[in-house]
Amino acid sequence: MTSLLYRYALAVFALVLCPPAPAQTSSAALASRAGTARTSLSDPSSEKKVDELLRKMTLEEKVGQLVQYSAGQPTGPGTGRTDYDDMIRKGEVGALFNITTARQTNAYQRIAVEQSRLHIPLLFGLDVIHGFRTEFPIPLGLASSWDPLLIEQTARVAARETSASGIRWTFSPMVDIARDARWGRMTEGAGEDPFLGAAIARAYVRGYQGARLDAPDSIAACPKHFVGYGAAEGGRDYNSVELSEHTLRQFYLPPFHAAIDEGAATLMSAFNSLNAVPASANPFTLKQILREEWGFQGIVDSDYTSVGELIAHGIANDGATAARKAFLGGVDMDMVSSLYHENLVRLVRSGEIPEAAVDEAARRVLRVKFALGLFERPYADEAKEASAMLQPDSLMLARTAAEHSFVLLRNQDFSGRGPVLPLSNQTKTIALIGPLADDHGDMLGSWAGQGRPEDVITLRTALIQKMGAQNVRYAKGSEILGGSDDQLVEAVKVAEQSDTTFLALGENAPEMTGEAASRAFLGLPGRQEQLLEKIVATGKPVVLLIFSGRPLTLPWAFQHVPAVLAAWFPGVEAGPALVRTLFGEANPTGRLVVSWPRSMGQEPLYYDALSTGRPPRDIDLTHPPQNGIEKFVSRYIDEQNSPQFPFGFGLSYTSYRYANLQIDKPSLSAKNLNDELHAKGNTRSTLLSVSADITNTGARAGEETVQLYLRFQGTSVAQPVRALSGFQRVSLAPGETKNVTFQLGPEAFAFWNDQNKFAAEPAHVTLWVAPDSSQGVQGTLEITK
Ligand code: BGC
Repeated sequence: MTSLLYRYALAVFALVLCPPAPAQTSSAALASRAGTARTSLSDPSSEKKVDELLRKMTLEEKVGQLVQYSAGQPTGPGTGRTDYDDMIRKGEVGALFNITTARQTNAYQRIAVEQSRLHIPLLFGLDVIHGFRTEFPIPLGLASSWDPLLIEQTARVAARETSASGIRWTFSPMVDIARDARWGRMTEGAGEDPFLGAAIARAYVRGYQGARLDAPDSIAACPKHFVGYGAAEGGRDYNSVELSEHTLRQFYLPPFHAAIDEGAATLMSAFNSLNAVPASANPFTLKQILREEWGFQGIVDSDYTSVGELIAHGIANDGATAARKAFLGGVDMDMVSSLYHENLVRLVRSGEIPEAAVDEAARRVLRVKFALGLFERPYADEAKEASAMLQPDSLMLARTAAEHSFVLLRNQDFSGRGPVLPLSNQTKTIALIGPLADDHGDMLGSWAGQGRPEDVITLRTALIQKMGAQNVRYAKGSEILGGSDDQLVEAVKVAEQSDTTFLALGENAPEMTGEAASRAFLGLPGRQEQLLEKIVATGKPVVLLIFSGRPLTLPWAFQHVPAVLAAWFPGVEAGPALVRTLFGEANPTGRLVVSWPRSMGQEPLYYDALSTGRPPRDIDLTHPPQNGIEKFVSRYIDEQNSPQFPFGFGLSYTSYRYANLQIDKPSLSAKNLNDELHAKGNTRSTLLSVSADITNTGARAGEETVQLYLRFQGTSVAQPVRALSGFQRVSLAPGETKNVTFQLGPEAFAFWNDQNKFAAEPAHVTLWVAPDSSQGVQGTLEITK
């Protein structure tokens, strides 16, 4: 992607108008709608076809559409079946997943289309989370680009590759708000903020589903896990969740609402219980909110065996009850647990489930199959499958995405000589140390799709390409977990003999990040901290590259290592992207989408927290309290409240100055805002413009992510101390100043209030145009009655 084209696309993205919003919505849900044409799931002609088909179907066949198995993993929990051919032939299965090649999908599809009574095609799904074969950075890294357009493009590539294998459904995007770095699945999402999360959710849906869902290279999106999954108590995966309706509506639902509003064809219900009601049998979220308020017409799929898990949750004592509760609670399709397969027909015959409800659920499945064009084109073209993968432009995009995902956290020599990065091309020798310096598999992150370790260019390979093998001295130094004293000794020797050291440390992607990978300690695993300290002790300049699916607590490193880059897991182009960044061919632009903790005890840690009645204003929290004034405030006695690095933070090789905040009106009226908010059929109006001058004060061209934050005070319910309400990326030549303007519509001023409504209220508003969530130029505004 050339930068000109890129900028043009961004400009288009920023300019397109927002279509009308659904009646009940939030500001964050509306974030950054790009206005791409959306395919309707239910057009009259396909609804007619669905009706005709439903009339011909037996009850068993209708239930069959609600049954989904993992045919590719016969040994996984809840599977173990081998009789798929027979079930498909009898119309007892509607969807399969974990089958990964065109040959396999076609083989099953042939049975469904050619040998079943009604010839209804199967829907094949897969977890394509950040790429199919071309693996992009993990979603947390992609989100750190703060670039929905780029994310949309990665999802488009993923859709092209996935559909080439006959898979027309991905279980992505994961749009769970993640406020707790202990939760391993933070790696799969867009971080802690609902506004950014909503914009990114839309981007994924647009990318996967394309302009037309029935185009052969489009795949159905599946926002997940509905809902509250990221708020697992203690950050422990699958754990119970308690969220007030206020928190749910204002923080956790907006990215889902945005994805649905963008046209997502399916949605996955979560494993967790929400306020004691399991999310996979929760009529409040699945029926009232999703169907009635948001008008969702697509499929609700359960998570993997989450229907069967209702028994372990304790709301069902047998499979039939679990099936009944999940189904009546709003889950259309049962992933893997086979309880719909075994029980739904009987439950209808006994009158416990109305047949009309089964008709409606089957209708939703058929609707999605028609929308995807599966009836017209059930098969993948096996001859074209291989050529769809790893296309040169896909790899170029993977490199760009990786470069945009890196977040430069520190870049300052301790002896006052200034920044360490970028390295000069004159650098003669580099010591490359660490268990992740030449690791192929981990670069793919968790949920690596069909990504193969051999597709990855590692940092070691790319560095040798740049500098020549004789100038790159490599030592592993330790394993990710474990290692030997000899490895340490060798690494120190290598560092001592070189000009600069790159230290590639971090987590093991598949085991320490992603599902079922919650951590109670967030430091470097194994002996890596020891390795780090030994290398720093050599006195040579050290650049620490952290590979992880979450922020790691590394207080020592941030005090002793001059340059630190959060590299996440960058995907197939890890090495080239890192080398270009470290040598300044790419200037880091990534920004944190999660607050980076100082210590694990601060979790859950997020910037958009409510104030307390005792905020520690103007109190120095770097030391323990020494008197009552310092003590009786909301603080820790042994740690600061602030994060190591705030949400929105990220350095660049240049610097920026923010000045001249302008707000075009001193006040707005709440009545007017609410009238606008509820006006139907109109494009949203701009009610307020906020602008600031951003200057590139350094010597390099750069791209700054300019962020807008709002705070409301004097309202019916407490509001976050800051909430992101806009962001824009601007390119600035050295010395250049640009005036950046945010146009705010009524939704920017609405929140979930004490009347259980999204509405604007009289308030004192503080606005910041800012480089991150902890600073910025600031102004105020009054919202009158
Ligand atoms: C995960 C889902 C995933 C599903 C299918 C579950 O264990 O929670 O995110 O889509 O498996 O693989």
